[in-house]
Amino acid sequence: MDDLREKYLTLIKDVADEAALEELRVQAVGKKGEISLKMRELGKMTPEERQVAGPALNALKDEVNSALNARKASLADAALEERLASEWLDVTLPGRRRPAGTIHPISQVWEELTAIFASLGFSVAEGPQIESDWYNFDALNIPGHHPARAEMDTFYMHREDGDNRPPHVLRTHTSPVQIRSMEAQGAPIRIIAPGRVYRSDYDQTHTPMFHQVEGLAIDKDISMAHLKWTLEEFCRTFFEVDGVELRFRASHFPFTEPSAEVDIRCSWQGGTLKIGEGDDWLEILGSGMVHPKVLQNGGIDPKEWQGFAFGVGIDRIAMLKYGIPDLRAFFDSDLRWLRHYGFAALDQPDLAGGLSR
Ligand code: DAH
Repeated sequence: MDDLREKYLTLIKDVADEAALEELRVQAVGKKGEISLKMRELGKMTPEERQVAGPALNALKDEVNSALNARKASLADAALEERLASEWLDVTLPGRRRPAGTIHPISQVWEELTAIFASLGFSVAEGPQIESDWYNFDALNIPGHHPARAEMDTFYMHREDGDNRPPHVLRTHTSPVQIRSMEAQGAPIRIIAPGRVYRSDYDQTHTPMFHQVEGLAIDKDISMAHLKWTLEEFCRTFFEVDGVELRFRASHFPFTEPSAEVDIRCSWQGGTLKIGEGDDWLEILGSGMVHPKVLQNGGIDPKEWQGFAFGVGIDRIAMLKYGIPDLRAFFDSDLRWLRHYGFAALDQPDLAGGLSR
């Protein structure tokens, strides 16, 4: 018995990890362990022998068990120590520096106008940037011979030789999303569609890719008054100036009847632009009552429904709001420009927090 005791206490002391310790436990006091087998032999002994061997064996078993438990605890402690040592964290390190990146003014304005129109019950719709000429033109009541096609400086996609179907285009405006949304949702409808558009044009106020936001509201009794209120509400909130004044000027678009262009009152003093005061007017958007043919092309019965639509240049209103003079710089990816005009990533625009803070 002393040999057994000596053997297991030494083995337990020298064991390297918990798995090996468990093996030892099975080997000593498991069902078929060496000490357990010895205890079974008690049955074959005489009562006198048993009286001596029984307590001694039990004591041995207890001793080995508590040695196993103690070793198990010390192995677990050592493992924890090791983990703590390898996963340490230096809480005296300085905080993270402000990230070098900024939110682009277009993204910022995009978020701002989405927040405003969401508060008015508009949801966001999308359409492809490569568009068929049906959605970009015909469905919007711009037939093939219409001068609006030429005016738009359209980029045409290439067709395979021998394919005589009309080529796809890079959409020249977000208006095709009107048709797609009508087809997908039917009436009533209230959506905005912000997105990229393309025209072959390049100077201080034009780039071949720019951004528009389309608006469309269709219901049973919608009038120009709703259009006017909606746009005034939008401009007042967007420009964060209470005295915003809009001028609705009769105009013409093939997809609206009647049509209006909207100018905003502003002043240019010492090269800086001020919204809401002065004697100048700056055009910011096109709008009107959706043409019956356009409703029809979207699968909506013009005898039952009518609505208004508008298209705003996102880049244009970003320039106006944040005093950015040259549109081309928007897309130059010049880090100095981005740091100057960009927004902090955590300043998410929302109406309750004040749009641009
Ligand atoms: N699609 C027009 C453009 O790109 C803008 C526009 C004008 C959109 C009037 C409209 C609208 O929805 O009703 O110049």
